[in-house]
Amino acid sequence: MKNNFLASFGLLCILVLFTSSCQNNEAKKQVVDTTDSIAKADSMAACTPIKDPNNPKPMALMMRLMAANADSMRSQLLRGEKLDSLKYPFIKFYLVEPTDPNVLEPKFFDNARLFQESYKALFAHPDESKKYYNLMINACVNCHESYCSGPLKRIRKFPIE
Ligand code: HEC
Repeated sequence: MKNNFLASFGLLCILVLFTSSCQNNEAKKQVVDTTDSIAKADSMAACTPIKDPNNPKPMALMMRLMAANADSMRSQLLRGEKLDSLKYPFIKFYLVEPTDPNVLEPKFFDNARLFQESYKALFAHPDESKKYYNLMINACVNCHESYCSGPLKRIRKFPIE
């Protein structure tokens, strides 16, 4: 549990460094390559055209952390444990650079706001965690139906029966 928290914190630190140091090179890399995106449409990381899969954008990295956290929350809830809000701070993914800058439109931010509300609701209802956890995962799905369908298959396995 402590290790998990340290790992999340470490990743966030790296993300902060990454966003502040790499911005000059970003413009060049944002070439949209349709062929690439079709080829990778089925793979996990391929919701948007990724020129260099070894150099993911900050939003993609944050999403990976969010998915890892959802996975860990699910295991904890299945074991009947309470979720600690300090272990799962809200990640402001909508403030950082995405692989495809075209996603940054009003509907995306509406989805992000609804997701943030359901994330807060989860920690505001410790006695109904499973229900609110499922609602939070629903908010992941809702955004992904419009913006990034690649990970949907994985996200749809997150809800608790
Ligand atoms: C407001 C919209 C939105 C919400 C809410 C959202 N996502 Fe995402 N997600 C995206 C977008 C856009 C990307 C593509 C990011 C990029 O490539 O820069 C993405 C990418 C991903 C990826 C692929 C990351 C990679 O390896 O490239 C995963 C996995 C993921 N999201 C899981 C989740 C989970 C789990 C949740 C809920 C806890 C969630 N997402 C909530 C929009 C959203």
